[in-house]
Amino acid sequence: MKKARIIGTGSYLPEKVLTNFDLEKMVDTTNEWISTRTGINERHIASENEMTSDLAVNAANRALEMAGVTADQIDLIIVGTITGDFPWPSTACLVQNKIGAVNASAWDVSAACSGFVYAITSAAQYLENGAAKRALVIGTEVLSRIMDWEDRNTCILFGDGAGAVVLEAQEGESGLLSGHLHADGSYWELLYQPGFGSRYPASVSGIEQRLPYLHMAGNEVFKIAVRSMHDVAIEALENNNMTVADVKLLFPHQANMRILEAVRKRLKLRKNQMFVNVDKRGNTSGASIPIALDEANRAGLLEEGDILVLDAFGGGFTWGASVLRW
Ligand code: UT7
Repeated sequence: MKKARIIGTGSYLPEKVLTNFDLEKMVDTTNEWISTRTGINERHIASENEMTSDLAVNAANRALEMAGVTADQIDLIIVGTITGDFPWPSTACLVQNKIGAVNASAWDVSAACSGFVYAITSAAQYLENGAAKRALVIGTEVLSRIMDWEDRNTCILFGDGAGAVVLEAQEGESGLLSGHLHADGSYWELLYQPGFGSRYPASVSGIEQRLPYLHMAGNEVFKIAVRSMHDVAIEALENNNMTVADVKLLFPHQANMRILEAVRKRLKLRKNQMFVNVDKRGNTSGASIPIALDEANRAGLLEEGDILVLDAFGGGFTWGASVLRW
């Protein structure tokens, strides 16, 4: 059976950087609180005229260029996002149009911070069973547009950005070895955007109640995130008859440094086995893993044959891990 192999990566971060010191002027917080509780020092924020699809297109073009593939050679586009340009049509369709991927089907996956792992696992099925030859998988978010900039519990955590990979069906040892996806919808209320949908349709009073913004019960999310990211990484490795000793790099969803450190210690991974960029990127939800992957790739950290693990957790709750051989 063919495997879905990553043949190009790309990422894009908006130019504007928002530091903890900038946030001190916006809400009742301090650089010290943010950096000790989250490990985040700064995050990128999209400009007014940058949409989620624009970030995605920049990342996608970089991935296509690295892959040496033109947009018309892509058969399918899957975008993981919870901050699409519109509730519908999908951001994937907007990207398809903007890059000229005229032969691709296109759809979005809504799995919050697990969006990229859900998307790449889905795309791999199409490549493995021969239904598609090349796929473009993107994680892209403009979370700054759904932040309550008066809520210090949440607005200090998140950032904007996009990451993309081009996958090709290939014979051989390299590619996605397996993907393991989970969900537990009973936790939907701990991390969500209440408005505006069929439950809370658009209304002036809804805006006054801050419904269009992200709501989170941080403490509860924290505990379940650590447990789930640990468990699914072990599940994924065991499924491939591997242990943490086989892992060159684990790419966790960049939620917050304390979560990452807790996961790393539970997994008994060395520090240099986990890729971390949350200090400079913040939590970019579905974009965080592909941005990290691209940064590691362009820094020359990945060699053919390396075992990598992608490990995500997000709203829903959703969580999942993929094991791949580079
Ligand atoms: O992708 C998954 C997305 N979710 C996450 O990654 C979030 C997971 N959760 C977390 O990372 C942490 O729970 C937070 C970073 C959100 C919060 O850290 P914490 O150590 O759990 O703090 P806390 O919520 O228990 O709050 C402690 C105190 C509270 O004050 P009181 O009640 O003790 O007086 C908060 O009001 O810190 C206060 N606080 C702040 N103080 C200064 C909350 N946010 C801030 C802030 N600046 N920005």
